[in-house]
Amino acid sequence: MEKRKVIIDCDPGIDDSLAIMLALKSKEIEVIGITIVCGNSPVEMGFENAKKVLKQVGRLDVPVFVGESKPIKRDYVNALDTHGEDGLGESFLPEVAGYEQEIGAVDFLASVLKREKVSVIALGPMTNLAALIERDLDAFYNMEELVSMGGAFKSHGNCSPVAEYNYWCDPDAAALVYEKMYQKGKRIHMVGLDVTRKIVLTPTILEYICRLNPETGDFIKKITKFYFDFHWQWEHIIGCVINDPLAVAYFVDRSICGGFDSFVQIETQGISLGQSVVDSMGFYKKEPNARVLTEVDSYRFFELFISRLLDTTPEKLDILQDMIGRV
Ligand code: BDR
Ligand code: CA
Repeated sequence: MEKRKVIIDCDPGIDDSLAIMLALKSKEIEVIGITIVCGNSPVEMGFENAKKVLKQVGRLDVPVFVGESKPIKRDYVNALDTHGEDGLGESFLPEVAGYEQEIGAVDFLASVLKREKVSVIALGPMTNLAALIERDLDAFYNMEELVSMGGAFKSHGNCSPVAEYNYWCDPDAAALVYEKMYQKGKRIHMVGLDVTRKIVLTPTILEYICRLNPETGDFIKKITKFYFDFHWQWEHIIGCVINDPLAVAYFVDRSICGGFDSFVQIETQGISLGQSVVDSMGFYKKEPNARVLTEVDSYRFFELFISRLLDTTPEKLDILQDMIGRV
């Protein structure tokens, strides 16, 4: 099987870290690089966190590139309130020195996308991609596929009543990316809160992971504890929503999510700042520039997520069904 090449553009970030782990354990894809953008954590912290995750999975051979440190037009607002003061759930894992690259994230994206068939899984604000558009539009258009964790259709937001963090943090970047995709007749796969909110890592599932593989389980426990507390306080749920791994799971297995094609525009001003306006009824009479995901089989997500992270097979996850149940 030919592996599909991907770049993970992210802001680690607790759930970004889980997404990186899933991607590296998925044999259908080859992660040729990780590009960091400011988002959950400032970009230098994101770089350090990516290395900590790579060390945990023994993959420090994957290059990590530092990207944009602030949104293209607005002041930067991090999400350390959600991800902890170290951006990794206050796990305070030991630093991993070195591994700096000679070029930055946007140069890396431009050079690779120009010459190879590569897709991007974007798990943070779209600032690096907007900078790529400014730097080299042809390279941007050469991208094979763009899967973006971001936005919301019918779900409420997580930064305002209507806006999801990745698009809210840099709405101008997200607006530019959607607009450029529209101009070229291409589609973004929008993995928004409508589907990611259904991916709840519960204490029971986490305990199951720990029983099956204490080392990996302990690592996940360390980085998610803060996230569990955050979700209890703000969403009143026992568990934490792990958004970003769903974008990776969807990339490797399209049948996990369902949705529809639509024109989408990102609001850049006013009280709806960062909202992904999904024209599901076709009012604007514009061709679709996005596949908007609305349905997800959370059982199949966890089956894939756990079996891959733990190097086991779905058949061995015999009691998972009791914990989640099929959709
Ligand atoms: C998104 O924002 C971040 O908090 C997560 O990492 C995810 O990418 C969810 O809104
Ligand atoms: Ca993220």
